[in-house]
Amino acid sequence: MAFWNKKKQPEAGEGPDPSRLPRHIGIIMDGNGRWAKKRGLPRTAGHAAGAETFRTIAYRCRDLGIPYLTVYAFSTENWKRPAEEVSAIMDLLRKYLLEALEKMEKDGFRIRFFGDIEPLPPELRQLCLETVETGSHVAGAKYQINVCLNYGGRDEILRAARAWGRDLLSGRQQVEDLTEETFARYLDSQTIPDPDLIIRPSGELRLSNFLPWQSAYAEFYFTDVLWPDFSPAVLDEALVDFQRRQRRFGGV
Ligand code: FPP
Repeated sequence: MAFWNKKKQPEAGEGPDPSRLPRHIGIIMDGNGRWAKKRGLPRTAGHAAGAETFRTIAYRCRDLGIPYLTVYAFSTENWKRPAEEVSAIMDLLRKYLLEALEKMEKDGFRIRFFGDIEPLPPELRQLCLETVETGSHVAGAKYQINVCLNYGGRDEILRAARAWGRDLLSGRQQVEDLTEETFARYLDSQTIPDPDLIIRPSGELRLSNFLPWQSAYAEFYFTDVLWPDFSPAVLDEALVDFQRRQRRFGGV
């Protein structure tokens, strides 16, 4: 077991305190390929298993009353993977978005996308737009899932800077009004709260261009568990660990 897991593990039956849950969790869904390799399966089988885990964990967060979940589904760098793997991930996204479209009204959630969806296959791009549109009409939705798709944190900051620059040139913005708050509205996350907790399974200790602006004060939880094996019990462990931290935001 790696050193970051040597912290005190929750006692049996010790669950997270429902009154001190994070408002926003970010998850880097990593380890699908290794999970498949261990079983002698193609990498695409790992992504299929990872997508099932996504559904389980998304509903678990909703049931706990956590208002925002952001997942890293496809990065700006993931296009470098073999075409067959890219296309399998796109197919999974299509499948799960179609399911979400059907269920979001009844289950009270909405979906948004972080990233530049322009280069996606046209049919998937259209589905993303339809999902956002349908979600925006879900009355009283208390839960939002943000899917990072063709997302890179540096790319997000550059796109925001370009948009701000255009508004500056057109007179809608003034240099002296540029603050962290006004700039953040140009990011994909717009006005939603920053993630309190970022979880990365699979033993990697990197942020990999995931929400670099928004995670400035986030707590991090790393575990060796591969994403397809990530369960509500592992989420509980991460939440209990989070609740033991003292967050000072630069104060004392
Ligand atoms: C990282 O594991 C995972 C991805 C790049 C793809 C994640 C996609 C899904 C879980 C499926 C679709 C998503 C949704 C929201 C329905 P890796 O392939 O880098 O694993 P490895 O490091 O073990 O090779």
